[in-house]
Amino acid sequence: MSENKMRVLLTGGCGYIGSHTAVELMRAGYDVLIADNFVNSFPAVLPRIEELGGRRPDFRELDFCDAEGVDRLFAEEKFEAVIHFAGLKCVPESVTQPIRYYRNNLNSTLNVLDAMNKYGVKYIVFSSSATVYGEKNPAPYNEEMETGSCTNPYGSTKFMSEQIISDAVRADPELGAVLLRYFNPIGADASGRIGEDPFGVPNNLMPIVAQFATGRREHLYVYGNDYETPDGTCRRDYIHVTDLAIAHIKALEYISGRTGCEAFNIGTGVDYSVLEVINAFEKACGKELKFEFAPRRAGDLPTSYADAHKAERLLGWKAERDLDTMCRDIWRWQSNNPMGYEK
Ligand code: NAD
Ligand code: UD1
Repeated sequence: MSENKMRVLLTGGCGYIGSHTAVELMRAGYDVLIADNFVNSFPAVLPRIEELGGRRPDFRELDFCDAEGVDRLFAEEKFEAVIHFAGLKCVPESVTQPIRYYRNNLNSTLNVLDAMNKYGVKYIVFSSSATVYGEKNPAPYNEEMETGSCTNPYGSTKFMSEQIISDAVRADPELGAVLLRYFNPIGADASGRIGEDPFGVPNNLMPIVAQFATGRREHLYVYGNDYETPDGTCRRDYIHVTDLAIAHIKALEYISGRTGCEAFNIGTGVDYSVLEVINAFEKACGKELKFEFAPRRAGDLPTSYADAHKAERLLGWKAERDLDTMCRDIWRWQSNNPMGYEK
């Protein structure tokens, strides 16, 4: 228990970003209450959060689509802020199961906002995504750019949630919200005890590279080498998950005592190509990774990276960990836990 620090509800706090944020909050002296339904995470993360955070986090198993359950949680527990991570995040799955994605990601957000309003919780930090910048804006993206025109239902749920939250703030002069638009979170806690452990076959580059390096995956495909980029492969703004976790603490400090709704890019402002990332990972794991080129993946943009100045200016936050550190930390997690948390 800490002095002068808020108690914070982490919806989806057992997931990849939530677990790292829980640990950083606890390291900084905050009390956390985690609630998750394990639709995309494992109970085995909780003792590891305890191990790294120095004490057991409070936990409730809960589906945030269950409005009565959410109401009960808010009635029974006291906290000053919510960090709303809970959501489904797999882009191709959102294309084949759009209704499930809209239902889960929007209903959970609506239920959280309803309960905040009823029980007088004033602050929310929302997990948004660079995907809200859509296809039309040129990189680097800044927060003044028009959002929307998302290319898939997952992206649309983030855009719509941002709208819902900013409308809720407009209607309630006491509410304060921060929308964090994450770029490409990778990496793991430096301890190697927690990390990304996707269910089934991963979709994102880094977990695929990491699982390929341990021999858990047979192929590593690079999607497209004919983009208009220096080496022909796509470029992204990869951000260490610990830097991202710390950005949530800065967001809580910023919002505390304020009202209104503010969006921030959370990226490094630097982009790397797929080939540069694979090269950095080869250095980290000490192995050659024999990748194969494959056709472009539908929906991929050639280049995405943040203009990260607003977060630096207003939150006092800047990413500190470089690509080599990201790769080294993923490798430590992956090689110590080749089958993830529970398998
Ligand atoms: P994750 O899947 O590892 O974590 C999400 C957590 O939410 C999981 O533990 C899952 O079980 C839980 N959850 C989902 N729906 C729930 C519900 N209805 N009730 C209770 N719990 C529920 O994903 P992550 O990478 O940690 O992402 C966290 C948030 O950040 C998500 O909202 C995601 O869309 C967003 N985001 C992630 C990325 C990324 O690349 N990882 C990028 C941009 C935004
Ligand atoms: C994807 C989502 C984005 C989401 C983000 C984080 C798409 C189109 N976009 O972003 O909405 O916010 O994940 O969850 O799915 N790559 C390979 N080989 C692979 C996998 C990926 O070459 O096996 C390439 C991709 O073509 C891309 C880059 O690596 O150029 C990064 O891919 P990924 O990690 O999936 O992230 P994004 O596509 O940026």
